[in-house]
Amino acid sequence: MAAVTELSRADELRAFGEVVAGCTKCALAGGRTQVVFGSGNPDSDLMFVGEAPGFHEDKQGVPFVGAAGKLLDQLLADIGLTRGDVYVANVLMCRPPGNRNPLPDEIEACEGHLWRQIELIQPRVVATLGNFATKLLSGKPTGITRVHGQEQEVTLGGRRVLLYPIFHPAAALYTPRMLEVLKSDFACLPELMGREVAPPKPVFVSRVAAEPAVQLGLF
Ligand code: URA
Repeated sequence: MAAVTELSRADELRAFGEVVAGCTKCALAGGRTQVVFGSGNPDSDLMFVGEAPGFHEDKQGVPFVGAAGKLLDQLLADIGLTRGDVYVANVLMCRPPGNRNPLPDEIEACEGHLWRQIELIQPRVVATLGNFATKLLSGKPTGITRVHGQEQEVTLGGRRVLLYPIFHPAAALYTPRMLEVLKSDFACLPELMGREVAPPKPVFVSRVAAEPAVQLGLF
């Protein structure tokens, strides 16, 4: 379990949310009703990262409260979880006009807010919903269709976590057969949350071990 105490993590998140509420790092600040910061259980082992707020999220200031959010709630219920058990955030914290795709400069401006939330939450599993979150957090260009349902160990927020790409719930709103894929990917989450993740590989060698190599000019 994480080193940060329950109270201080929630407090730090709240304080960070207050700072981010005034963000003007990109042009989306001009059109938003409000910043939509992450929400849910700050001590959760499971964090979801979606794409960007839509109309309802922008109005209510909470991620995933519209149609895709209702489906997310249902998918969570199917595996015995509620929104109060998990933490949910987005790649972008402000609504793009007309719900268009996030632009590279918007992602770049906003990603620090996401990294900091991951650092504070210290989840064991980060489930990325859709292409934008998956590409950003995996650091790879491979799209969601190829990687969904395949967990990978990555370092996020200074810790090893299991990154688990899943289709965005909105995809199932328009493509009903996607719902079965989503359900079966969600069904793997409880097992992933119980998995041990290997600690990061040491990045240094002790002086004693290194010395002969240093003398040989190998380092
Ligand atoms: N879609 C997202 O990716 N995020 C939300 O908060 C709502 C819809």
